[in-house]
Amino acid sequence: MSEPRIWRVAVVGCGVGRDHIVRGYQKHPDKFGVHALCEIDECRLAAVADEFSIPRRTMSFDEVLRMDDIDIVDICTPAALHFGQILGALSAGKEVVCEKPLVGTLAEIDRVIAAERETAGRAMPIFQYRFGNGVQKAKRIIDLGIAGKPYVATVETAWKRAAKYYETPWRGRRETECGGVLLMHAIHNHDLMQWLMGSASSVFARTATRVNPIEVEDCAVASLVMQSGALASLAATLGSQREISRLRLCFEQVTFESSHAPYSPGDDPWEIVPVSPEAEARIAGALAGYRAVSARYEGQFAAYHAALTTGAALPVTLADARSSLELATALYHSATTGLPVTLPIAADHPAYNGWLPPKP
Ligand SMILES: NC(=O)c1ccc[n+]([C@@H]2O[C@H](COP(=O)([O-])OP(=O)(O)OC[C@H]3O[C@@H](n4cnc5c(N)ncnc54)[C@H](O)[C@@H]3O)[C@@H](O)[C@H]2O)c1
Repeated sequence: MSEPRIWRVAVVGCGVGRDHIVRGYQKHPDKFGVHALCEIDECRLAAVADEFSIPRRTMSFDEVLRMDDIDIVDICTPAALHFGQILGALSAGKEVVCEKPLVGTLAEIDRVIAAERETAGRAMPIFQYRFGNGVQKAKRIIDLGIAGKPYVATVETAWKRAAKYYETPWRGRRETECGGVLLMHAIHNHDLMQWLMGSASSVFARTATRVNPIEVEDCAVASLVMQSGALASLAATLGSQREISRLRLCFEQVTFESSHAPYSPGDDPWEIVPVSPEAEARIAGALAGYRAVSARYEGQFAAYHAALTTGAALPVTLADARSSLELATALYHSATTGLPVTLPIAADHPAYNGWLPPKP
């Protein structure tokens, strides 16, 4: 049997990009090798490249695109740069990994989806919290129809960000961060909720900036009707002294509650409470052959390698990112207009080309 291919990666941006190396690629030396690093901050570039003995270092994204031996361009730059960099990497024939939020408008993601259809490579958005054994088991139970009719979800993202976080100049600014707590932080938990409960069909949201003196929101609440008819409530803040992420999903046959760990909401233990001994037996049957996944980046990158190698669907797709950005668009538009917003959001919707409210 031939050895599995080791894919050659260039990481662009050394903030969370360093985490991709430590928690993702380095966990899989038989699957990935990081051969180039791109970063416009020369000190950061040298420090991270030296730390991991990465031979090629550059401050030029275009130079990365010209590296013929690089298979995967992993984009970990500030959000507003993602769109141009994804298009550039796809058109250079590369496979693409890109951090959340994938891009800054629905119009942009539709252009990325169109570009992916025309190029050899594919683009995988990062939603690493899907790779946790608690949420994976819940997903399996729901997909097998054991949970039954969804009733209500409550989702809390209560995190803390203070002045130091906003010393990084692109953060907290509309043009460069593209959104606040809804887009940058709660996006993970909202993705998990929609992954498990299906898409929203109507939303009403309120946002406020109360924690830090920034241009984007740092508090938000929303009331959702899902396509299934289930209801969901979202609450997000960056002003919680004890940080938690919490999803509680009530279905007819099963109630699920995540752990409260803020930065590993998908990981075990999830509380899975069946309505009856019969439901409990069906859950036990469903989980009998369950194979544990590795957590977060390690798990997403393992699944990514399998998809690259076999040509199967990527473990997180552009459709997933679109769904998350469509929810964000609806939430922002509702908060701006003070009105409920119905999904889907089509190209003639006023928020299709941008969700941020007009500048005050
Ligand atoms: N999935 C997660 O849990 C998670 C966590 C943190 C950040 N993120 C996302 O990752 C992205 C980066 O966030 P961060 O916290 O690492 O920010 P950061 O500011 O710490 O790091 C970004 C780096 O990109 C570099 N950079 C900027 N322009 C560049 C360019 N043109 N070419 C190369 N490098 C460039 C900057 O110098 C900086 O070092 C954002 O989209 C953010 O939302 C995701």
